[in-house]
Amino acid sequence: MKQCNLLQLSEADQALIAIASKAMKTAYNPYSKFHVGAALLSTQGEHVVGSNVENAAYGSSICAERSAIVSANALGKRSFEKIALIGRHEDFSATEVTAPCGSCRQMLYESCQISGIDLTVIMSNTDGSKVIVAKMSELLPLAFGPRDLGIDLSKYGGQ
Ligand code: THU
Repeated sequence: MKQCNLLQLSEADQALIAIASKAMKTAYNPYSKFHVGAALLSTQGEHVVGSNVENAAYGSSICAERSAIVSANALGKRSFEKIALIGRHEDFSATEVTAPCGSCRQMLYESCQISGIDLTVIMSNTDGSKVIVAKMSELLPLAFGPRDLGIDLSKYGGQ
C-alpha cells in the first residue's frame, strides 16, 4: 500500500482516475448525496466505468465499483488489472479518499480469482492531494472465494 498525490502517479493511472472522475458525475444519489465513480482497466486495455445508483429501498442501491463490474460483465469482460475510485459528498470537502465497501471488496475479489490477478486499487480524493494505491490482497486479506468452494471458473474466462 502506498500513499502519494495524483501527479506522482503514472500518466496512465492519472488518466484512469480522470475517467472515474467523469463517471462520478453520473451518480444517482438523491439519498446520500455521495458521488462515487469507478473505472476498471481490463487486461485488454479497455476502460469500463461505473457510478453509484441508489434506490428508495436503500438496500437495493449499488456502489460504483459493483456497477462497473456488472457493466463489464455485460460487455463480456471479466479480467482486470486495475480499478480507480474517486468519491465525495456534495456538501463536504473531500480530503479523504473513498475506499471500497466490504461488499465491493468481496465482489472485486471474485474478479481476482477469475483472472488470477491481484487487482490494483487506486483511490483518489477529488483534489488529487491524496491517493492511496493498494492491492486487493491488502484490502481483503484471508478472503473467501470461488476456489474455497472448489469452483471451476474456466468457462467464465478464469484459470
Ligand atoms: N458508495 C460507493 O459507490 N462505493 C463505495 O466504495 C462506498 C460507498 C456509495 C454507495 C451509496 O450510494 C453512497 O456511496 C453512500 O454510501
